[in-house]
Amino acid sequence: MAEHADHPAYPVGLRLSGRRVVVVGGGQVAQRRLPALIAAGADITLVSPSATPSVEAMADAGEIRWERRRYEDGDLTDTWYALIASDDDAANDAASAEAERTRTWCVRSDNADVATAWTPATGRSEGVTVAVLSTDAQGRDPRHSAAVRDAIVEGLRDGTLTAPHHRTRPTPGVSLVGGGPGDPDLITVRGRRLLAEADVVIADRLGPRDLLDELPPHVQVIDAAKIPYGRFMAQEAINQALIEHAKAGKAVVRLKGGDPFVFGRGMEEAQALAAEGIPCTVVPGISSSISVPGAAGIPVTHRGVAHEFTVVSGHVAPDDERSLVDWAALAQLRGTLVLLMAVDKIGAIAKALVAHGKSPDTPVALVQEGTTASQRRVDATLATVAERAAAEDVRPPAVIVIGDVVAVGTGTAPLPAE
Ligand SMILES: C[S@@+](CC[C@H](N)C(=O)[O-])C[C@H]1O[C@@H](n2cnc3c(N)ncnc32)[C@H](O)[C@@H]1O
Repeated sequence: MAEHADHPAYPVGLRLSGRRVVVVGGGQVAQRRLPALIAAGADITLVSPSATPSVEAMADAGEIRWERRRYEDGDLTDTWYALIASDDDAANDAASAEAERTRTWCVRSDNADVATAWTPATGRSEGVTVAVLSTDAQGRDPRHSAAVRDAIVEGLRDGTLTAPHHRTRPTPGVSLVGGGPGDPDLITVRGRRLLAEADVVIADRLGPRDLLDELPPHVQVIDAAKIPYGRFMAQEAINQALIEHAKAGKAVVRLKGGDPFVFGRGMEEAQALAAEGIPCTVVPGISSSISVPGAAGIPVTHRGVAHEFTVVSGHVAPDDERSLVDWAALAQLRGTLVLLMAVDKIGAIAKALVAHGKSPDTPVALVQEGTTASQRRVDATLATVAERAAAEDVRPPAVIVIGDVVAVGTGTAPLPAE
């Protein structure tokens, strides 16, 4: 093959749908490559005496046909493309020779020099497939290819890389984006891309505020708390602002803390937009109800300790007639209670839970400004939480966790049942 070695590879996109592809060897290489071949719709036959559990699962699911045996001459008959990746050198050489003879493009994991095709480093983002093949004086350089691929895909995903004459068309209307609990790394890839494409961003006080600094100067950033609401309620004024900017043809992102649908009034905004016929995309976010306890070392469930967790708003006191929460029922639950917006009312809430039968010794943790540089955790029990919260000057935003899971990470929890 030496006569081929000096020339660069010719890149091409194979359309494998319904076409026979043979994979020789069911190990790690097959496990990595098979999903893309399956996604391409190839008619895949795996020839291998053994396979990894993941490859076996693909066969069980009917995504590939698995012939549990060693490679035999003739296996590549009528095959368009072959991947040779077994740990049997003789089988690899024989399959490779058959591929050469039958003019079947063939990738070899053990010896790229004699292969007739190379697999590029690939990645996908928003309808674009990136495939990178790099070569240097010594031949292929897969690590370099992977690094270039990562840089391109990441740039496409976060919006820092756009083709100059073919910018991704901004998503029309309004995107309700869950920004996660505060750490700018905890927004979704989609949320970040939509932010990068936005003309107008209307942001809450909670959530990843640091991301707003990264927006280009032409983007109008509006603090939702500062929208004047004169004759409207605050939420109605926010809805009106979303509607006005969207009607002006702007790509609008409504950046919200946590998940838009967890005490986030996301559906009210979606309904207001729907009533005006404005398209609305909802992007889920990581809710503080799970991530803030987690960031403080508290799992909301733990085997043998809690089989359920209940997320409750504590913005109105238990004896308030507007309360929709059945505190008596919650006091009977054995699982974890996660309270949001409850710092002000925690004394009354703890009292109600104890009055309805929960042990005063139940562990409680208050986690303030979780996932940010100012995160702190204060531990207490139901009996002491009001006093501890006041003494430690715990302020919103905080998530309050009630239950035995609070002690799991500190090693004082009951051992999990087997
Ligand atoms: C109006 S609710 C919005 C919840 C949000 N949609 C979510 O899924 O996380 C606001 C409450 O979430 C909690 N919260 C949000 N971010 C937080 C953070 N970083 N640290 C602690 N609590 C947080 C606090 O209980 C706060 O009062």
